[in-house]
Amino acid sequence: MYSSDLHAFGEKLLKEHQIEIKGKDSSFVERFRSHLLTIETLFNEIYGDHPHRNKGFDQLLHSLITLYQQREKSLIQKDNEKHKAGNWFVSNQITGMSLYVDRFAENLQGLAKKLPYFNELGVNFLHLMPVFESPAGESDGGYAVSNFKKVDSRFGSNEDLKHLIHQMQDQNMYLMLDIVLNHTSYHHEWAQKAKAGDPYYQDFFYFFDNRDIPNQYDQTMPEIFPESSPGSFSYVSELNKWVMTVFHHYQWDLNYRNPFVFNAMLDTILYYANLGVDILRIDAPAFIWKELGTTCQNLPKAHTLLRLIKKCVQVSSPGMAILGEAIVAPAEIIKYFGTHDFTAQECDIAYSATQMALQWDALATGDTRVMLAAQHDILQKPFGCTWINYTRCHDDIGLGYDDYMIETAGFNPFQHRTYLKNYYAGWQEGSLAAGALFSVNPKTNDARISGSLASLCGLQKAVEWNLPQEIENALQKIILMQAQTMFIGGIPMLFNGDELAYTNDYSYLEDSGKCYDNRWMHRPIMNWERNEKRNDSTTFESKIFQATRKLINIRKSLPVLMDYKNITWMTPHNIHVAGFVRSLEHQKLFCLFNYKNAGSYITWHAFKEHGILPSQFFDHWTGETYTVGNDHEYFILPSYSFAILEVVV
Ligand code: GLC
Repeated sequence: MYSSDLHAFGEKLLKEHQIEIKGKDSSFVERFRSHLLTIETLFNEIYGDHPHRNKGFDQLLHSLITLYQQREKSLIQKDNEKHKAGNWFVSNQITGMSLYVDRFAENLQGLAKKLPYFNELGVNFLHLMPVFESPAGESDGGYAVSNFKKVDSRFGSNEDLKHLIHQMQDQNMYLMLDIVLNHTSYHHEWAQKAKAGDPYYQDFFYFFDNRDIPNQYDQTMPEIFPESSPGSFSYVSELNKWVMTVFHHYQWDLNYRNPFVFNAMLDTILYYANLGVDILRIDAPAFIWKELGTTCQNLPKAHTLLRLIKKCVQVSSPGMAILGEAIVAPAEIIKYFGTHDFTAQECDIAYSATQMALQWDALATGDTRVMLAAQHDILQKPFGCTWINYTRCHDDIGLGYDDYMIETAGFNPFQHRTYLKNYYAGWQEGSLAAGALFSVNPKTNDARISGSLASLCGLQKAVEWNLPQEIENALQKIILMQAQTMFIGGIPMLFNGDELAYTNDYSYLEDSGKCYDNRWMHRPIMNWERNEKRNDSTTFESKIFQATRKLINIRKSLPVLMDYKNITWMTPHNIHVAGFVRSLEHQKLFCLFNYKNAGSYITWHAFKEHGILPSQFFDHWTGETYTVGNDHEYFILPSYSFAILEVVV
């Protein structure tokens, strides 16, 4: 509801900051005015009863204005261009890669020199794994941040980062950085001050005098790293208190019941926006709100906080999109796009974690029925939002999709997951996968999977055991997995090394800061001499690199692959084949993926279901043209192959 007090308060602040209402700041003023009421409503939902509500709200609005004023002109111009383009991130022109700066190119300066490599591959969007200060040995790959605004000296300096960003901008590349919202390293200044007894900073974290409340929480909170960091609380001997540590013992959870914590983190978010971040990856948003008696994941107030962040970003730095890294149950993931009045107004982008895991499911079983059963949930994504599609990332692969999806396909969920874990750990007869189980929890029987794309697809063992046919199969599987992520709708995100079929790297076992975490096996260190093999067509590095490049180019050449929620799944005529149609105006593209280690047959009848009677197809992958046969004849997909069939006539 309109509030004249709020309006007057907002106008006063604009004046105080000498904002030019009708001049150069007019777009900002429009955004500020139009979102002010929602910002207040969301803020009050969380902090309405807090004793420092007024001070907190005042501080928040000041930040929005100040950080807008600090935004470079060139970024404001980019904001305008993105605004004109609409939901720019649904474009088929964007392909991403996630990488560790040091493992890829030693440091930020090294990375800047490698930009031509991305151009060669067709990648124009980089997710730099966390680059801000984080204590070596207790860093969780950079996700235990001790200073949110200082680049870790291992990677270089803030100047190096800015220089890299400018170079990327000159080449029209997009950038993603993380905001680690849920916790800080226990070496962060706030944690240090809290430890020294400062009550203001103690209120930044969840402290408890004894185990009473932690014990109650423990009854309902699942453990995230049960092997390396069991439980969700750690003892702080200096204070004789317990602190909440949902992830590792060295990552202290931030207390978002305190408005000053929210403001401090929002300030960091807008600082990243002003560095030139195009997509902000909000790390682990599912965890940011805690309540006794719950799992402390996906709670309604976590969504309120995200909506508040989204609104604030829309006001100060509208060109920065928000990715919510919610790797949770399928029906929960969808909620991060916003629900009810906030549909499509929370996170712009989310990881399609369910689809990712289900591609691994199909690859192990040769059966796509579980994948198909999940599509009802996955397709709930609102128009205007999009997915990050990936075969894997720096984290483990979780099998957290719903039991009903497995049951729909006719399997027993427990036996099915056991099969998948055994398959990827390489224990299942006939499996050449060389992964490992991660975070095994004997209490719940839960376990996730580590391993590089190539090793999970069987390349590592096939090479070790010198099995030429299996090497071929593994290469086909790698390309098949990448292909589906490229065409399903959303931003494809490669993980560095996968474009060259890097297999597992076991050197982490010799590093005391990493050996307890087998996710490091699939976070390779680039070997640039080896990478030259991409130019030698007889090598598998070249086969995978060139195939990945071709996939990216095909995707870029077809506007129908923009994510306009323009996907319809085909009736499953063959359980081994995942098939969907992408449509845009008169363009129709049938995308088919054969997960079977043998040819699969699809009746031509299947292509006549979508209001069209095609007579000819062009396959963008093979370059062949096919004439549609009679209903009793078949289109045949060879083992682990796929087809990208555009209707010609
Ligand atoms: C996210 C990151 C993961 C990290 C965790 C804690 O899930 O992707 O690598 O361990 O958050 O920050």
